[in-house]
Amino acid sequence: MDISTLFTLISDDLQAVEDAIFKHLDSDIKLIPTICKHILGSGGKRLRPALLLLSCKLFGYNGFERIPLSVAIEYIHTATLLHDDVVDNSSLRRGKKSANSIWGNEASVLVGDFLFAKAFILMVECKNLDILAILSNATGDLAQGEIFELVKTGDINTSENDYFKIIENKTAVLFSAACEIGAILGNQDINARKKLHNFGKNIGIAFQLIDDALDYISTDGEL
Ligand code: FPP
Ligand code: MG
Repeated sequence: MDISTLFTLISDDLQAVEDAIFKHLDSDIKLIPTICKHILGSGGKRLRPALLLLSCKLFGYNGFERIPLSVAIEYIHTATLLHDDVVDNSSLRRGKKSANSIWGNEASVLVGDFLFAKAFILMVECKNLDILAILSNATGDLAQGEIFELVKTGDINTSENDYFKIIENKTAVLFSAACEIGAILGNQDINARKKLHNFGKNIGIAFQLIDDALDYISTDGEL
């Protein structure tokens, strides 16, 4: 089974998430929807929402919360990309000009903050403290992973352990959170939650290993 087969299992849910992603972006300050639509409409794979939705499906959970929580996780991810492109001084994101290269670093950072805040509004509306705790911890870990990467930049003594610490924090935590949330919504016990958490973490690590390898061996087109 390849990944597109998995995506067809949740195609209706993914469409609902896609619609909701663009629904919450309105603001009187037009720069906000402009930048949000630029990055959110640039062809992201929606991997984290897909994992959350598949995890819900695994446990037979059909409730409404799966949609706003999927949106929240994609907003958090997108906020980190807006910030990351400033940190990395990147001019391209998903083959298009990055937001920072069009609107500048200040606008990118601040609109990232807006998306981050929107994610927390959606999460709080779901009124589930376990899920709020998982996503709050994950965002703290994300920031630490990115800061540790910054500290280690250009350090030739960076160990394999350091590298794994970086990618587990900056990438894998959001994948593990997505999978664990499905187990929580599906009313599973702590054992099942841990299994889904580890499953997501390992997918996240694998994803970042490949993403990093592609940085060395692929062309811009392939990326
Ligand atoms: C992309 O990695 C970056 C991340 C996965 C994490 C970025 C995290 C932050 C900027 C912390 C900000 C935190 C909050 C809570 C808003 P990459 O540079 O390897 O990937 P790329 O090739 O896609 O740029
Ligand atoms: Mg980076």
